[in-house]
Amino acid sequence: MTTQLPIKHLLGIKGLEASHIQTIFETADNFKSLLNGPVKKTPALRDITIANLFFENSTRTRVSFELAEKRLGADIVNFSSSSSSVKKGETLIDTVNNILSMKVDMVVMRHPAPGACVFLSKYIDAQIVNAGDGTHEHPTQALLDAFSIREKFGDVAGKKIVIIGDILHSRVALSNIYCLQLLGAEVMVCGPATLIPKNIHHLGVSVTHTLQDALKWCDVANVLRIQLERQDERHFPSLKEYSSLYGLTLERLKGLDKEICIMHPGPINRGVEISSDVADGEHSIILQQVENGVAVRMAVLFLLGQQRL
Ligand code: CP
Repeated sequence: MTTQLPIKHLLGIKGLEASHIQTIFETADNFKSLLNGPVKKTPALRDITIANLFFENSTRTRVSFELAEKRLGADIVNFSSSSSSVKKGETLIDTVNNILSMKVDMVVMRHPAPGACVFLSKYIDAQIVNAGDGTHEHPTQALLDAFSIREKFGDVAGKKIVIIGDILHSRVALSNIYCLQLLGAEVMVCGPATLIPKNIHHLGVSVTHTLQDALKWCDVANVLRIQLERQDERHFPSLKEYSSLYGLTLERLKGLDKEICIMHPGPINRGVEISSDVADGEHSIILQQVENGVAVRMAVLFLLGQQRL
C-alpha cells in the first residue's frame, strides 16, 4: 500500500486522479479497522498541529475532523468565526496568518465563499483541507460518500447514482459528481429545473425532473436538503409543493421492483426531502456515511501529514 499522496492540499475533488482516491480509500480501510478495534488511536501525527477554522456552521464535518485528528494523535486548535475577531473586521488572511504564526502545520477550513480555500492556498505555507467552501466543493464529503458506496457494493464502478434535490446550491453535488465519475460510476441529477444548473450536462451527468424516473434508473439515491440559507430568491412555490414532487417517501420506493441504497450527507430536513421511515429504514446508509467520515478524514490528514514529518 502506498502512503504517498502527490498533492499539497485537498482543495477539491477536481484535479485529483482515480489513483489518489484509491490510495485514500486503502488508507481509510486500515483506519476503519483500527477504529473498530479495542485501541482506536495511533500516534501517526503526534508532531503535527492542526487548526480547524470554521467560518460557517457545521455539526458532522467539524466533529468528524476533530475526532480524526485526535485519533491520529495530532495537537488541535478549534476556531469558530462567530466568537472571533473576524467580528471586529479582521481579514481572512490576517486571521489565518495569526493562527499559523503559533506553529500550526495544517488547516481544515469551512468558509461560505466559493474558492476561499484556493485563495488561501496562494498566501500561506500550511497545508489546507477544504471542509466545504460555499457552493463550490466539499471533497471529504464526496470521498466518504464514495467510500460508503464501495463498502456497500464492493465497487463504485458501474453503479448508477442519482443526486436528488438542490443541485444548484450544493457543494456536495459537485464534489460527488467529480468523485463518482472518476471512479467509473454513472451519475444523474434530479430536481426542479430552477434548482439544477442549466449547463450541468457538460459535466457528463444526465438530468431528469421526474423523481420516479430517477428512482427507476438508479442503484443509489443521494438525497440533498434544500439550502435555504444560500437562496436569495424563491426557486419553488413552497416546501410543501417541493416535498410532494421530490420528497423521498416509502410509498414512492414501494412502487419500484427493486431496492435502492439511500444516502444523505446531512443535515436532514425530515418530512421535506426525505421521510423519517426512509431516512431510518433498512436501505439507508446515512449513519454509515457519518461513521466512515472519520476513517476517510483520518486517511486524508495522515497522507497529507506525511509530507511534514
Ligand atoms: N454533511 C455536512 O457537511 O454536514 P455539516 O454541515 O453538519 O458539517
